[in-house]
Amino acid sequence: MIHTFDVVIVGAGGAGLRAAVEIPSNYTCAVLTKVHPLRSHTGAAQGGVCAALGNLEEDNPEWHAFDTVKGSDYLGDQDAIEVMCNDAPRAIIELEHMGMPFSRTDEGKIAQRPFGGHTKPIDRNDPDSKRIPVKRACYSADRTGHVMLHTLYENCIKNKINFFSEYFVTELIYEDGICRGVVAIDILSGEIQIFHAKAVMFATGGDGRIWRITSNAHVGTGDGFILSYNKGIPLEDMEFMQFHPTGLWKLGILVSEAARGEGGILRNKDGERFMERYAPTVKDLAPRDMVSRAIITEIREGRGIKGSDGTSYVDLDLTHLDPKIINEKLPEITGFARTYLGVEPTKEGVPIQPTAHYTMGGIPTDIDGRVLKNSNGEKAVGFYAAGECACVSVHGANRLGTNSLLDLIVFGRRGGKAIVDFLKNATLAPLPADSGEWTRKRVADLKNHPKGENCADIRTEMQNMMMEDVGIFRNEEGMQRAINKLGELKERYKNVSIDDKGTQFNTDVLEAIELGNLLDTAEIVAVSGINRKESRGAHAREDFTERDDVNFLKHTFATKNANGKISLDYKSATITKYQPKKRVY
Ligand code: FUM
Repeated sequence: MIHTFDVVIVGAGGAGLRAAVEIPSNYTCAVLTKVHPLRSHTGAAQGGVCAALGNLEEDNPEWHAFDTVKGSDYLGDQDAIEVMCNDAPRAIIELEHMGMPFSRTDEGKIAQRPFGGHTKPIDRNDPDSKRIPVKRACYSADRTGHVMLHTLYENCIKNKINFFSEYFVTELIYEDGICRGVVAIDILSGEIQIFHAKAVMFATGGDGRIWRITSNAHVGTGDGFILSYNKGIPLEDMEFMQFHPTGLWKLGILVSEAARGEGGILRNKDGERFMERYAPTVKDLAPRDMVSRAIITEIREGRGIKGSDGTSYVDLDLTHLDPKIINEKLPEITGFARTYLGVEPTKEGVPIQPTAHYTMGGIPTDIDGRVLKNSNGEKAVGFYAAGECACVSVHGANRLGTNSLLDLIVFGRRGGKAIVDFLKNATLAPLPADSGEWTRKRVADLKNHPKGENCADIRTEMQNMMMEDVGIFRNEEGMQRAINKLGELKERYKNVSIDDKGTQFNTDVLEAIELGNLLDTAEIVAVSGINRKESRGAHAREDFTERDDVNFLKHTFATKNANGKISLDYKSATITKYQPKKRVY
């Protein structure tokens, strides 16, 4: 079956839905998602979406931009960061007008709370003065992403957007620099369908499922990355994976930074508030890369708390908080602690460990979601990306909490507007004769393959190895071991077999294709990482412990070369107002 639309958006999280809202009814728009839109991973975002509204104390977008640049360890492109932070207050009010139920202050204003790395100068006239946490994160209790997703979905329904739920996109149709659509499997029927379009936007999320401990939903398998990469589109800064400091111990389920924003404290086995040693001014509200490293350092140096299985964690202490705050502002995460770990957060510490959370890199775009074909900035015609799968780059080497929901709504909207502009003069480029052939053959090969390797075994080995060798701390030896192991796993993957030979809801087929995407993405992460011989943001190397602005104040571009191997190229980071400085908090 061939569908024809003006625009096809792949992914129904915040970025995809916000872009879809922008498409007027004189153009046809389809949103494809491999789950139901309301099960998109945006729904797992908890603590907030930031904007310098200044509802509770003085704030301004310039302070927000400075924090984002510093948080990114100066790798974020400052022109894009300024666009995002300046647009943030408007974007929040727009969501409010769309019907998003924000938590409120007593006066009825949108409530705001502090979050890691968001600060204000003590002396407003001296930007170089000491900086302390500021209330910048707008929130809906600890379900901000969930209510944002519902709000955007309702607005899409109001605008009569066409949804194709449980459609798994397996190929990008892109030839001669022109995007022409996508190929998808209708999961329910197993039918392979072509979506022919003038413009395609990827809003396909991140790749957290590469790691064993992750906050990511099962859908976070990096599909959009590999579909683009296979067509010659580079992937930018893939070495930068954010580990959120507070995942539930052993499970990785997110325990929002909002818990620390509301006064929660991290403690080691001696009950010590150890963040005082690592970030004396902002303490538990330091940026995520620093807090995650601090937790692992405490554990490595024997100050972690030993669990029943021999692994260690630290405690998130909320016991001193007013139970009213816990019930009204943190109901979701405290519920998770009770349900999954059987602890009572009002009476005891919540065991936590860092969890793979967010892909800072991705498909390179300009500030209007247009995908870049190379490090020279040339554009792929009709191809757009937004949200976690895209790299604008506003997060650089380390994203600040709550900047990701903001990224979705600012750049989802801008991408949507750019598509509308493009559609005014766009024509439907012809489909290649072999459209869908790769998917047909891949599905047939998987079903016909005699008993061989098991997907789950390969996936588990990859996830365990990536935790050890390409995790929070990295070095040459570990990353080389990872590259070798991934080569071995990719060989074994060629011999993968599945049990379900049927057509309807064949999740074996899906999992096998997703695993291929995960392995390829993991290899790009490791190869990009081993070649960045410095420590910056989330990329902390034990063998190159300092940031090296002379050689590495630049973005990595990983491209598939003619031999099918990874080629690396670099592009300078954009500096406007803020010259790189040492990051101290
Ligand atoms: O901690 C959190 O609530 C996560 C927010 C984010 O990743 O932006």
